[in-house]
Amino acid sequence: MHTHSTTRTEHAGRLHLNENPLGASPDAVAAAELELRNINRYPDPAHTDLVGAIARHHLVGEDRVAVGNGTDEIILMLALARRADPRPAAVTGLTFRSYPKSLRAVGVPYLELPPRGYRVDTDLLVDGIARGLGLVFVCNPHNPTGSVLSAREVQALCAAARRHDALVVFDEAYAEYVPAEEFASAMRQAATGRAVCVMRTFSKAYGLGALRVGYLVGDPDVVARVNALQGAFPFHVNRFAQAAAVSALADRDFLDITRRRNQAARALLCHGLDDLDVDHVPSSTNFVLVRLPGIASRVAEALRRSTGTLVRDTADMGLIDHLRVSVGTPEQMSAFLHDLGRELDRAQGHQAGAGRP
Ligand SMILES: Cc1ncc(COP(=O)(O)O)c(C=O)c1O
Repeated sequence: MHTHSTTRTEHAGRLHLNENPLGASPDAVAAAELELRNINRYPDPAHTDLVGAIARHHLVGEDRVAVGNGTDEIILMLALARRADPRPAAVTGLTFRSYPKSLRAVGVPYLELPPRGYRVDTDLLVDGIARGLGLVFVCNPHNPTGSVLSAREVQALCAAARRHDALVVFDEAYAEYVPAEEFASAMRQAATGRAVCVMRTFSKAYGLGALRVGYLVGDPDVVARVNALQGAFPFHVNRFAQAAAVSALADRDFLDITRRRNQAARALLCHGLDDLDVDHVPSSTNFVLVRLPGIASRVAEALRRSTGTLVRDTADMGLIDHLRVSVGTPEQMSAFLHDLGRELDRAQGHQAGAGRP
């Protein structure tokens, strides 16, 4: 008997935004709570403590760090900062939509370069940079496929950007989920020299999505331009977000637990998908891309209607026939697999029925 729908909490079915199901570091929550006593005071427009903490965390100069109201805001600032550059920008196809949305919003022309299978095609990007692209957004680890670039691919992109005076921005929103030995972060390249930036966020592994805070590390000229634009919106990162983010960075235990539990729950999800005979893409992150040819959108809608479970239909990213499922708690994964199995049975019954004369 299906019992989950009666026992679920309001958040149990949220598998569509890649949030941290464990919450956030207790230290970060306490820091935000403490700031409530200053609720009448504007936040620090220079984000002094947070910029310092990020610079120390990544061993970079403070002139290489900018913070934003989520990385979404930083993406918009980067697009604005490049408006005077006559060269087009590029995004990779089948990925996070904020890059094209921001570029379009500020009128920067851009190309959408196709992926190779489920992976970013770095050869195409390197070639594009050599042919005159000014700004390239690269999502690594890649949303929605969960794949990561090799060190050689990251290095080739950085070298091309430096050679041709372009800017490559690596969106590493999910970096904290990948064990360090398996992830070629561009943070090392962003720590020195020009033409390379990395974005990170507190919304995913750090579990602070509600507070809206992300950051940029890299080329100091780009950081200075982003900071100058943000002067028009000086209190964009609120004081709760600034205080919580500083504490979150210091709580390595919470990140370790997050990473370990995510790996265990992801394995449970993937084994369950195998048992249901459902194709999925190997993932290094806190989400798994599931392939459901012909029925993906219908299954997503049926899950929403029957149990309130939300998963991300990737059709609007250009990837039809797929759903992106966030890794939740083991209980959430079991409930999801149970519900998915039922919807697949229904969809198959429907297809068999439709095929009858
Ligand atoms: C690849 C990627 N970048 C950035 C973000 C947005 O992060 P933030 O909450 O910092 O705006 C997301 C959120 O879904 C994401 O998937």
